[in-house]
Parts: sequence; C-alpha cells; structure tokens
Amino acid sequence: MHNPIGIFDSGVGGTSIWKEVVKMLPHESTLYLADSANAPYGEKSKEEILQLSVKNTELLLNRGCKIIIVACNTATTNAIDYLREHYPVPFIGIEPAIKPAALHTKTKKVGVLATKGTLSSSLFHNTSKLFAEGITVLEQEGKGLVELIEANKVQSPEMWELLKKFLDPMLQQHIDCLVLGCTHYPYLIPVLKEMLPDDITIIDSGEAVARQTKAILEQNGLLAPETNHPKHALYTNKNVDILKSFVDGPNIEVSHLEF
Ligand code: SIN
Repeated sequence: MHNPIGIFDSGVGGTSIWKEVVKMLPHESTLYLADSANAPYGEKSKEEILQLSVKNTELLLNRGCKIIIVACNTATTNAIDYLREHYPVPFIGIEPAIKPAALHTKTKKVGVLATKGTLSSSLFHNTSKLFAEGITVLEQEGKGLVELIEANKVQSPEMWELLKKFLDPMLQQHIDCLVLGCTHYPYLIPVLKEMLPDDITIIDSGEAVARQTKAILEQNGLLAPETNHPKHALYTNKNVDILKSFVDGPNIEVSHLEF
C-alpha cells in the first residue's frame, strides 16, 4: 500500500497526468520516468514503442511500483494490451477523450490532435467508432509539437506557426471541441486559448485518468493510508533542468538516470 504509483511517458508530457494524480491522491508516493532520450514515440514503429514500454515497465516494477500509469497516448494505444497480459500489476492507460467530446459537441464536428502512432492505432479507431457515431472526427497529426515541448519551446514563434497550420483547417470545418490526444499537449492550452475562438472547448484526459487510478487502487485495496508521507521521485534520461521546469510541489526529487 505504501509502494509508489509508477508513471512513464516518452518525456516531460506525462507530468500533465502526474500533476492530476498528485492532486487527487495526496497520500500516494510516485515514481515518474521521462524517457526523453527516446522522444517522440509517436514517430516510431509499433515494435519500437512496445520495446520502450517494456523497458520502462520493468524499471518501475523493479522499484516496487504497485500500479503503472502509461502516461503516453502513443504507448497506451500500441502497448497496453501486451503489458496487461505480461505483468502482474494493474495498468492505467490514456485514451483520447473522444467520448466526452462526442457528448459535448453541438456542431457534431470534433477535432483530434494526436501523434501518428496514436492516430494509426486500432485502439484509437475502435474508440472513435464506439463513441462517435454520427459525429465527424477530424484527425490531425501533431508532427513536431512534442519535440518543441521537450525543448521547452511552448511559447515560441515555431509553435504558434505549427499550431495555426494544424488548427486552421479544423476551424474552417466548424469543430467546436478539440481533443488533445497526447499527454504533452495540455502544456499547449495557454497558447491554444489565445489562438482559438472562445466557443471551442479543449478536452484532455488528465483528470479522468487520476479518477480511474483512484478507483482501481480502491478496488484492489492498494490505496496508501492517510498517515503515509508521500515522496515523488522523477527521473529523466535527458535534461534534468527541463524536467524540473515542468513540476513543482513538496517532497519532489528530480534526477538523471540512464535507462
Ligand atoms: C510522443 O512521444 O510522440 C507523444 C507521446 C504521446 O502520445 O502522449
């Protein structure tokens, strides 16, 4: 029960999920892996994504994690079935929030911004088919966005230019919801709010994932007691200062680790 929640991502983006988890589960310790040396996952083959997901999972399990959050849409859509079959802990994945968008849209047109690896996966297509009947889902690959976020260039002319190129065609088709289908993208929300008309709703999965993690811990009797003194260890195999700039709060240690 005192063991940490393990979280991994292709880089710093999964900290958008980590923040929601720490907020909703304040007594839990966490161990976060930012595999920034291998980012972006979204441009890799399914085999490569699977190998990287196995490497991260085994490291988290060797350090005693009681549950693993695959805080990366691309790794979820390509590897979570395999991980669930081969390892004995519960896994929480991140699915693009198509269902809430389909329930919310008035124009019946929803935009999804995600990586190539997510958009081409069968999990993504099944989710769209299941929850978006009668809705037009406009898919856009966010090529280049993860690299800019990993380089801490969220507020940059390059970012603004790329986002305009990706979003203008969706706006011309009258979307009223934009689903952020990559855990890096919530860091774009301030820029998106400046760029998009006020009536576009931006939807991401962070809070839903934290809620689901809490429910699964409860069901498995794995919740940390309120007397627990939580600690948060975050590791990156690239740039410690960049990872540090994405997180803050008490009892946090950010370090470099080869993995
Ligand atoms: C990537 O590494 O390409 C993005 C990760 C994600 O899909 O959340």
